[in-house]
Amino acid sequence: MVIKVTEKAMMASSMRSLLSDGQRYAETFHAFLHHSTEHQCMLEFIEKKLPDIVQRFANGKSPINILGVGSGTGEIDLQMISQIQAQLPGVPLNYDVIEPTNEHILKFKDLVARTSDLKNINFTWHMKTSSEYEKDMNEMHESKTFDFIHLIQMIYYVKDVPSTLKFFKNLLAPKGILLIIIISGSSGWASLWKTYGHRLPLNDLCLYITSSDLKNMFDEARIKYTYYELPSEMDITECFVEESATGKLLMDFLTETCNFDKTAPPDLKAEIMEALKQPECSVIRDGKIIFNNTLTAFLLEP
Ligand SMILES: C[S@@+](CC[C@H](N)C(=O)[O-])C[C@H]1O[C@@H](n2cnc3c(N)ncnc32)[C@H](O)[C@@H]1O
Repeated sequence: MVIKVTEKAMMASSMRSLLSDGQRYAETFHAFLHHSTEHQCMLEFIEKKLPDIVQRFANGKSPINILGVGSGTGEIDLQMISQIQAQLPGVPLNYDVIEPTNEHILKFKDLVARTSDLKNINFTWHMKTSSEYEKDMNEMHESKTFDFIHLIQMIYYVKDVPSTLKFFKNLLAPKGILLIIIISGSSGWASLWKTYGHRLPLNDLCLYITSSDLKNMFDEARIKYTYYELPSEMDITECFVEESATGKLLMDFLTETCNFDKTAPPDLKAEIMEALKQPECSVIRDGKIIFNNTLTAFLLEP
């Protein structure tokens, strides 16, 4: 019995955050994008809602300064740029990107190089975390402001959410808009994190927060916001296929754990696998297990 407990503790302690391995993180994120409608729901938002947002922040200005925080490999950024340039023909864009994962920056730069119709845009990449950027800006007494700042699916990875949001909100130019996209409080993630977040490796690197936490935070601080729900789903059927490499990548992404399959204690693994199939997380459709990946988009003004 004693041995069992010790073994369990050792296995539990060997779990480490996915964010501690940039290469593995990039692979799991890639798998997630291929098995979810994450980007499709963002593209719908960009098509339907961004034009009005652009008109509000552009307001006759030239050039327009934009900041992407945690932009990843840049696909969504380039879709937004395309929509912004369609709305503001001929207006030059200064586009700054804060992104700490080297693999992601390289892919973003490659995508830019392969996109032929990108004109009138000046990119600046900052390979650092948002808090490193904040520290550097403060040390340099830099007072650059931005007309549009977006934090898309990255707020889980900052140490202090309220102070990070305050910092970026303060970087907004007059009429500027801050867009935050985060997992919805009505999603399967919310249920998974609420029940198992405390048993997964936080390591200071990942906060299990959802739009419900942000709403509470904004309400308490009397910060005004508007928001939209963006329905999205993730096909997690492969997670239940023994020895599926894709399933393992998706499980790592779902649990934010590096090699969850090998390092999680068996009881935790069994419980999470079971929970993933429950209606709080997923529906079964056409023999597939479809996880609720609904997102929320918040808009904040200065
Ligand atoms: C889930 S991805 C989202 C990427 C992109 N915004 C998208 O939606 O496709 C999260 C991104 O945030 C980056 N990231 C992690 N910690 C960060 C931090 N502290 N500051 C800024 N970016 C961070 C990761 O490297 C990753 O590229």
